[in-house]
Amino acid sequence: MQRYKLPYGVNAEIYSSPEIIDQSIQGKYYLGDVLETLRHLIPEYRNQVQLIYMDPPFFTGQDFKFRQPIGTKGWSGDRKHSISHIAYTDKEDRDDFLNMMTEILTLAHKLLTDEGCLYLHIDYRLSAYMRIILDDIFGVDNFLNEIIWHYRTGGRAKRYFSRKHDNILFYRKSKGYYFNIEAVGIPRGADRKNNMKQGKDANGRVFWSIKSNGKEYRYYEDDKVYPSDVWDDIPHLHQQNPERTGYDTQKPEKLLERIILSSSRPGDIVVDFFAGSGTTLSVAQRLGRHWLGIDSSIFSLHTCRKRLLNNKNVINIGFFYNKTIPVLSTMQRNYQELSIYNF
Ligand SMILES: C[S@@+](CC[C@H](N)C(=O)[O-])C[C@H]1O[C@@H](n2cnc3c(N)ncnc32)[C@H](O)[C@@H]1O
Repeated sequence: MQRYKLPYGVNAEIYSSPEIIDQSIQGKYYLGDVLETLRHLIPEYRNQVQLIYMDPPFFTGQDFKFRQPIGTKGWSGDRKHSISHIAYTDKEDRDDFLNMMTEILTLAHKLLTDEGCLYLHIDYRLSAYMRIILDDIFGVDNFLNEIIWHYRTGGRAKRYFSRKHDNILFYRKSKGYYFNIEAVGIPRGADRKNNMKQGKDANGRVFWSIKSNGKEYRYYEDDKVYPSDVWDDIPHLHQQNPERTGYDTQKPEKLLERIILSSSRPGDIVVDFFAGSGTTLSVAQRLGRHWLGIDSSIFSLHTCRKRLLNNKNVINIGFFYNKTIPVLSTMQRNYQELSIYNF
């Protein structure tokens, strides 16, 4: 077992030898404040990270919950009921929040390789402020997209137009960034296309065609279409969705799949500074990327751990956290832990 002293009073323990940590560790989760943890990570990971996704609190002034199902036999058996815990509170002062984000994004820039990219998931409350801060840190020329993630959730406003999208700001570290649109192409499919004629070419490939100015334009059903900067094909997680972990603000895996597949390769390091329920970490793990996750909520730690250990290709992952929390660090598949957080 290795013990680490982190600068902000956290003692981290890892149940493995340093060689295993360095060579084969698939991912590391840090329970702690993002800025404190990042300062600790910079010396090791400067210019090493391919992709950073972050989904910080949106300055909503709300408490966000973790709903823990309970059943007739404690945490198991007919789990029809749940206990709500406050997972985190999003009541930051706007100026404090902007200062914190400026510091975080400055450190994020240092972590990225020259091929690396950053995606900042935000909404209408802060997107304008973040754009200016990011332009400053990354350079205006390195801004690539403002992705609009449009969803259809219930509830309609009557005093203004309903707010049904989030904004994801996408920046590269340098001109030499890695981006693979092929990895996220979607087959055009067999839907009937208005004003077009269906046909088959000499090789038997089905296409839809339209003539304009004497020229024929063909759209093959098996060709891939590439997502634009408006993503309206990824639904919000509804309450009954099996992906749900009980952690409020959980994002769909499909969203992270698109980001991770297009902006990283297997073996690259993917980082999420506000890991929450562990969507990024879980998708990164499934797609063969290394990952680092940070979050200050104990419910995030437990949700991520449970989620990751359900992942069949987990062999060696590490959790670093404050020793005052009476839980065992989990490495490999042999963890045993009995505590109230063992849900
Ligand atoms: C919007 S949620 C992230 C949700 C996540 N993307 C998912 O799919 O589950 C924001 C997270 O930031 C964490 N957080 C807020 N302030 C933090 C801080 N200063 N340091 C570390 N984590 C923080 C919260 O605990 C919360 O889990």
